[in-house]
Amino acid sequence: MSKVYITRPLAEEAMAMVRAAAEVRVWPEPEAPPPREVILQEVQEADGLLCLLTDQIDAAVMEAGKKLRVISNCAVGYDNIDVAAATARRILVCNTPGVLTETTADLAWALIMAAARRIPEADRYLRAGRWRSWSPQLLLGQDVWGATLGIIGLGRIGQAVARRAKGFEMRVLYTDVTRHTQAEQALGAAFVPLPELLRQSDFVSVHTPLTAETHHLIGAAELAMMKPSAVLVNTSRGPVVDERALAEALGEGRIFSAGLDVFEEEPLPKESPLLVLERVVLLPHVGSASVATRTRMARMAAENLVAGLAGRRPPYLVNTEVLPSC
Ligand code: GLV
Repeated sequence: MSKVYITRPLAEEAMAMVRAAAEVRVWPEPEAPPPREVILQEVQEADGLLCLLTDQIDAAVMEAGKKLRVISNCAVGYDNIDVAAATARRILVCNTPGVLTETTADLAWALIMAAARRIPEADRYLRAGRWRSWSPQLLLGQDVWGATLGIIGLGRIGQAVARRAKGFEMRVLYTDVTRHTQAEQALGAAFVPLPELLRQSDFVSVHTPLTAETHHLIGAAELAMMKPSAVLVNTSRGPVVDERALAEALGEGRIFSAGLDVFEEEPLPKESPLLVLERVVLLPHVGSASVATRTRMARMAAENLVAGLAGRRPPYLVNTEVLPSC
């Protein structure tokens, strides 16, 4: 029987699917990842690894895992895995696209609304006993309806965010490495280069994967192009935004506010300059965190793993060149 290491307890139905197909060992702590030494140790006997975006699965892990055939990431993003190193060793890498699109788009919208209307700040104000009267100038935010939304990366999640903008009668701009002509028509979205998007948008929402090209895509120069009334939201990967430059821009009031679900370092270090700023909404990477979506992601990751171990093509294979379809 194949052996599998799972780096965190997942929805029970997904665990049961893997247990029916393999001998399973699981890291027991739900809210802390296994230390690297544990992964390096456990992978030695494993044919399959079911891991999360918090686990760095690099060439050293693959070297330690002499029998490793399948790495199934329970996430749509897979920047935590050295895919080239896996492909070189003919190890299958799988992810969970599609099932988390709408849930993550909902969260991007929660951040857009919260950052625009200063919701957490208003909540803190009330709880601190500071509310004295309805006041004409109290906690003024930015209008979302009728504003211009700029989407960086019009993939699945970017498109789902754009769809929701219709209800707010927004103008939608986007930028991407490729044109999405069908989506442009369906969503009424206009393609513009990044500088144009930054100059024209009232809300900028980031939906691009993390690659060498997108690292610090939004830095000091890009933030300087945004309107002083603009709101930046990032639900993709932290390093796409230069966090230090963003903290400076927010601290100096060069943009209105921001909403972040992802950070350059996770968990966010206690000394992060973001933590002392009022005008930023901070979430602990919960984009896909609904009961139904996390269950679907775990099932999909289990299905990918079980198929790969059985010699079948996993439904969501990243490095398709390892198993070319005939
Ligand atoms: C979450 O960030 C994911 O990539 O699934």
